[in-house]
Amino acid sequence: MRVIADIERMQAQARLWARRGLRVGFVPTMGCLHAGHLSLVDCARQEVGGRGIVVVSVYVNPTQFGPKEDFDAYPRDLKRDLALCRKAGVDVVFTPRDAAMYPGKAQGRFSTYVVEERLSQVMEGRARPTHFRGVTTVVAKLFNIVQPEAAFFGAKDWQQAAILKRMVADLNLPVNLVVVPTVREPDGLALSSRNQYLTPEQRRQATALWRSLQHARQRVRRASMGAAQLRAEIEHLLRQQPEARLDYVEFFHGDTLVPVRTVRRGTHMALAVFVGPTRLIDNGRL
Ligand code: PAJ
Repeated sequence: MRVIADIERMQAQARLWARRGLRVGFVPTMGCLHAGHLSLVDCARQEVGGRGIVVVSVYVNPTQFGPKEDFDAYPRDLKRDLALCRKAGVDVVFTPRDAAMYPGKAQGRFSTYVVEERLSQVMEGRARPTHFRGVTTVVAKLFNIVQPEAAFFGAKDWQQAAILKRMVADLNLPVNLVVVPTVREPDGLALSSRNQYLTPEQRRQATALWRSLQHARQRVRRASMGAAQLRAEIEHLLRQQPEARLDYVEFFHGDTLVPVRTVRRGTHMALAVFVGPTRLIDNGRL
């Protein structure tokens, strides 16, 4: 396994792979890797085969964090990430530096962003206004550097995947975007690097996100129901957890993210909940 930090070297390597006709699968991450990330790596390996190349990027992207968010506190442990990647059979880990990704940003010498204008207005985008601009910009940059045939994203961040699919289609980026199912703890909590912020008591209450999804699934199993009623039931369920505070729960069409008034089997649900100071998200098809 090789670790490449330099952008020009990474691009030169990508050109070499292309000349040799090697398939490249790419998994962008912010590190602090867990089994969710590693399932993306497994999918990438399956897709490109034993002779293909699997690249993981580890980069905590500053432009997707708001001014009051956890950029500085975001957990970083490159040594551990590299060991996990090596064990998972990754070929190259790309670890660019901020100064190379956004040269002269503080002095106004970085000023081009990729902005998706529609799907990024709702849910996470409403709560975090500049977040998706940072995500689309960094992913477009990473695609131009790594030049993958396929890139792998988790269903855990459903809206992110929808926006990136839209970016790839709108800008004709030559990348096949693959969405991989959410990996969960045995009690249903979706794996997330932010779970490690939780105290044991908060960790226990955090299962309320999964229980909300399961409740909604039960409720629409046989008959459809109004979104307002189902939202009220989920608010009630979450009020039973003293450390939990609902940010939003939305019911929408899975591809377009357009909200529905009537929730049925197959409708998509997403929610964001503060558990103590930590904001957790989850989603699923009902
Ligand atoms: P990060 O939060 O590190 O997640 C990297 C990838 O892992 C994303 O595609 C995310 O959806 C996926 N992932 C996270 N938890 C998962 C889980 N429990 N099951 C399955 N997949 C999971 O998402 C980002 O980083 C950044 O926004 C990034 C795309 C790297 C751009 O900076």
